[in-house]
Amino acid sequence: MRYLLLIIIALTFKDGCLAGKSDKKYYDEKYRPQYHFTPEKNWMNDPNGLVYYGGEYHLFYQYNPNGKEWGFMHWGHAISKDLIHWEHLPLAIMPDEDSKDKNHATAFSGCAIVDENNTTGLQQGAEKTLLVFYTSWECGQRLAYSTDKGRTWTKYAKNPIIPFAKDDARDPKVFFHRPSGNWVMALYRKPENDAKNQGISIYTSKNLIDWELQSHTTGFYECPDLFEVPLDGDKAKTKWVLLGGTGEYQVGTFDGKKFEPETKKKILDYGKNFYATQTWANQPDGKIVQLAWMKGGEYPDMPFCGQMTFPCELSLKTTKSGPTLCKKPVNAIATLHDKGVVKKKKNIIPGLRGNILSGISGDAIHIKAVFNPESSDGFGFIVRNGKKEIGTEIRYDSNKKILECLGGRAFVEPVNGLVRFEILLDRTSIEIFANDGEVVMSSCFVPTENDKELTFWTQGGEVMVEDLEAYELKSSWKAK
Ligand code: FRU
Repeated sequence: MRYLLLIIIALTFKDGCLAGKSDKKYYDEKYRPQYHFTPEKNWMNDPNGLVYYGGEYHLFYQYNPNGKEWGFMHWGHAISKDLIHWEHLPLAIMPDEDSKDKNHATAFSGCAIVDENNTTGLQQGAEKTLLVFYTSWECGQRLAYSTDKGRTWTKYAKNPIIPFAKDDARDPKVFFHRPSGNWVMALYRKPENDAKNQGISIYTSKNLIDWELQSHTTGFYECPDLFEVPLDGDKAKTKWVLLGGTGEYQVGTFDGKKFEPETKKKILDYGKNFYATQTWANQPDGKIVQLAWMKGGEYPDMPFCGQMTFPCELSLKTTKSGPTLCKKPVNAIATLHDKGVVKKKKNIIPGLRGNILSGISGDAIHIKAVFNPESSDGFGFIVRNGKKEIGTEIRYDSNKKILECLGGRAFVEPVNGLVRFEILLDRTSIEIFANDGEVVMSSCFVPTENDKELTFWTQGGEVMVEDLEAYELKSSWKAK
């Protein structure tokens, strides 16, 4: 009898814990990002409803539960305590009118806020009400709310809060403007359905329900964001940034009703796969943290289609070209650091011999480095380097001062003779942050599966590696 019991226990352990839903298999398919957000299966596009409440970062996203292509939009939902480890929750926002159509009444992009002072009167218990503002396609701007920390959602009874107009309006982003005491909504619109009018409209409201159109800024497309940010870290000297879905932005002033640009349009990201950005509402430390969809990424034979960028902190710095939005990965990336190397003051000569990164390899790597280009014509990295295939090159042209990777090109000027690069490599993406995030390039790629070497190279002359840290990264995904 005792033996029988032991055998049963042993078999249960084998099947239930080791051979069953093993941690190793979860989120480990060959093109599955290891620390970027992806849905378990099916299509995902824009991040939606980014809000922090009660110790949880909420990430909603455009999601098609029916397949791996766009359409039938619902809001998927996940939460995280640290912006690194995500827990999937059930679908949050369904199409309106019980729509089964690919487009009509489906739940397009939008935002979320915490109704701190119960302005809507929707609060029920002690928890603050979470509100999401979203576009119901061909049905206007709508509101849904949750009184249980975002676990269940109810559509507001008197929707739409802004009726449908044939001029193509979508993607509301709502925030509180303290000086005017108004709630503000930035909404993508194309008045008179004329492409030259497309841009971002500003609406205001006292009660979060009735909205009044105040102004319109042309020249932007989809997924607007508008936020106040200290210039050079000085909280007494703030500017406003107006940003469209492409990542193009302008810096200026905002009086609660109208945005007045003070710069020409600038580019936040020079990569091929950066779109539909949004910043977190109620970020606890007052920082501005942004997420974007890596539009255009490919994931052959995977159960999912779509990947988010790594969450990044934004700041505004005065540079030669005026106030510039800079972007850097949130510090929590360091919690995934595994084996690493640190190098200081290494003079590198041309040729692949003596690769200073030979100790580090893999498909998830974090690099931070400072270089003096010295006499080199160019230098850089090769990631996912193999014996047969060269891999993917990150190249800095020291003469032209051009950074290139996966078809992205950007001018990166040395500061006091030095250029800085921070690089996040994941299974299907490369994000490069140059000169403390002044120039950023986010790109997707499909590497050769088993090629995992990492190489540093220089060409034409010597380069001085002033400081370099490189770490292999652990996966942030574990089965429940
Ligand atoms: C941007 C976008 C939004 C829209 C959503 C629909 O990628 O086109 O404008 O709300 O995607 O999925």
